[in-house]
Amino acid sequence: MSDLDVLLQEDRSFPPPPQFSAQAHTAGADIYRDAARDPDAFWARMARELTWIEPFTRVLDWKPPHAQWFADGTLNASANCLDRHVDGPRRNKAAIVWEGEPGDRRTLTYWDLYREVNLFAKVLDRLGVKKGDRVAIYLPMIPEAVVAMLGCARVGAVHSVVFGGFSPESLRDRINDSRCKLLITADRGYRRGQVVPLKRNADRALEETPSIENVIVVRRRPGAEGDLAFPEIVEGRDHWWHRLMHDAEHDGESFVREPEAMNAEDLLYILYTSGTTGKPKGIVHTTGGYMTGVAATTKYVFDLKDEDVYWCTADIGWVTGHSYIVYGPLAVGATCVVYEGAPDWPDKDRFWQICERYGVTIFYTAPTAIRAFMKWGTEFPARRDLSRLRLLGSVGEPINPEAWMWYHEHIGGGRCPIVDTWWQTETGAIMITPLPGVTATKPGSATVPFPGVSAALLDSLGKEIPEGGGLLALTRPWPSMLRTIWGDDDRYVQTYFSKWEGRPDLYFPGDGAKRDADGYYWILGRVDDVLNVAGHRIGTMEVESALVDHPAVAEAAVVGKVHELKGQAIAAFVTLRSGHQPSGELRDELREHVAEKIGAIARPDDILFSADLPKTRSGKIMRRLLRDIAEGRALGDTTTLADPGVVASLKEQYEHQE
Ligand code: WT7
Repeated sequence: MSDLDVLLQEDRSFPPPPQFSAQAHTAGADIYRDAARDPDAFWARMARELTWIEPFTRVLDWKPPHAQWFADGTLNASANCLDRHVDGPRRNKAAIVWEGEPGDRRTLTYWDLYREVNLFAKVLDRLGVKKGDRVAIYLPMIPEAVVAMLGCARVGAVHSVVFGGFSPESLRDRINDSRCKLLITADRGYRRGQVVPLKRNADRALEETPSIENVIVVRRRPGAEGDLAFPEIVEGRDHWWHRLMHDAEHDGESFVREPEAMNAEDLLYILYTSGTTGKPKGIVHTTGGYMTGVAATTKYVFDLKDEDVYWCTADIGWVTGHSYIVYGPLAVGATCVVYEGAPDWPDKDRFWQICERYGVTIFYTAPTAIRAFMKWGTEFPARRDLSRLRLLGSVGEPINPEAWMWYHEHIGGGRCPIVDTWWQTETGAIMITPLPGVTATKPGSATVPFPGVSAALLDSLGKEIPEGGGLLALTRPWPSMLRTIWGDDDRYVQTYFSKWEGRPDLYFPGDGAKRDADGYYWILGRVDDVLNVAGHRIGTMEVESALVDHPAVAEAAVVGKVHELKGQAIAAFVTLRSGHQPSGELRDELREHVAEKIGAIARPDDILFSADLPKTRSGKIMRRLLRDIAEGRALGDTTTLADPGVVASLKEQYEHQE
């Protein structure tokens, strides 16, 4: 049975609990109707909930496919996350409640965070970082990561956060693509009890990053001097974070660094994400529209209140961390739990222990994690008091109905609404989602567009499909949309706004979806050559390039295959250069090679050696057939193949591999 058929059979529906609806931000108003009447006016209203230095008078300038929002206004993102809270009752409220994997803990109030960010902004000034300069951030999940991002925003520098699990080469390429001037890293991070030597990895990248003038290094574990992961410090280039902060604090002046007045359309950050070519795209987000989108969705999708303790388990290296650990929750003045490590360290109840310890009320995680919890069993959440939870969220990949039901029952105690939120790095903020006090949910459906967002299901010719399966499209611009791809506006136009001929106003996210009779969307996943492995986006071409970079490999084709926990797993089909023989060792070596080149998240699960790859007569690799083989299905149509025998022998080998 196909995914579509399974979903078509899902007919359970959960109306919002009346007590939840009565207390929600949405109570007493119909924001769907308001927004539908005049989406631009709705977004302008949301934008006015931010604090502007110079208020905007223009809302949307739309010259498809380029949009500008609130373009004559000025504001500062860090001032919206901090300054406006420290003059009021939130001044002494916990902003960040942090826990490191080894068990170290820190709480920063809004005032603490305000002070640290100001000091760090002064550090940036002293290192000559100016408005518009790019700064790379390669840090573990520690409070300094938030301070670094907000410090950049304060001085108007553009941050480019690179996930700490990415390899030195991936870091190098991202630094070079946007010519970052400064790198902020740490001596180490922790993952499943292991030390991740970030500075050492960074040093390998820094051998080939001519634009970097300075490196700031956070000492994650004071007292670790002399151990194996302790980094070298290059005189003149590398600086300890704590020394710079100490100097800024004792410079004889006020600690306050006034926030830079940024135009709404000035860049806030770049975040790299995988696409269908080998080269990741630098997604560009600007200030006013982005902050509007994340603040509005945080308020209404998570129904965030001052009393809440909110925890998003993502890493700051992904967009979820940017929008829903840093900018959205802090803009609305929330208390956010930030946790550094793995869910099963030292034991499989770590997340539930954290929920109990801090009294988490809103919990946002990914389906791949939920499926792992399911597999581990209900005893782990049952050990802890989860009764404070009132709302659950899901993001990153389609959530299968069984995982949804398990989450609802065993984590949410049957009482918490679940918001399944569909969005992307490019959309900046949540696009399709229930509103927890308003929308009835169905397990497996992200339900309907957020107010002010317009979606449609289209066929390949751009004809609307009211009910059934098709291509997802966003049909109106929205404030937090990407503005371009760094250094490659043509690719922006080609990738996102050229799917339907003559319609540069239609955004194509790369996902397929189904729409049911109630107009609910059921996201089916990517329809391009992009994989979603455990909620991480990986381009097949990136993995293929990493494989052919190995001296033994002549040609490689990579496909995703269904995986019980990860959603998708990576299967690679490889042909070898003459003189190289298939072997178990070579298979392991190739898997490691990919992990080294890209990062552990891209390590293929399966590698199959083959004398040849199935190609059409015009030389295109037939991925569809490879997927059939990897997933053990009967072969589809092979009549267009140049040599149908290749597939039959591949299938045979795949079934017999150990
Ligand atoms: C892709 C975007 C958005 C933050 C995390 C991933 C898939 C995301 C859902 C969801 C089904 C989802 C899509 C999308 N996706 N959320 N709720 N249901 N699929 O951001 O790395 O930019 O990946 O993740 O395929 O295109 P990203």
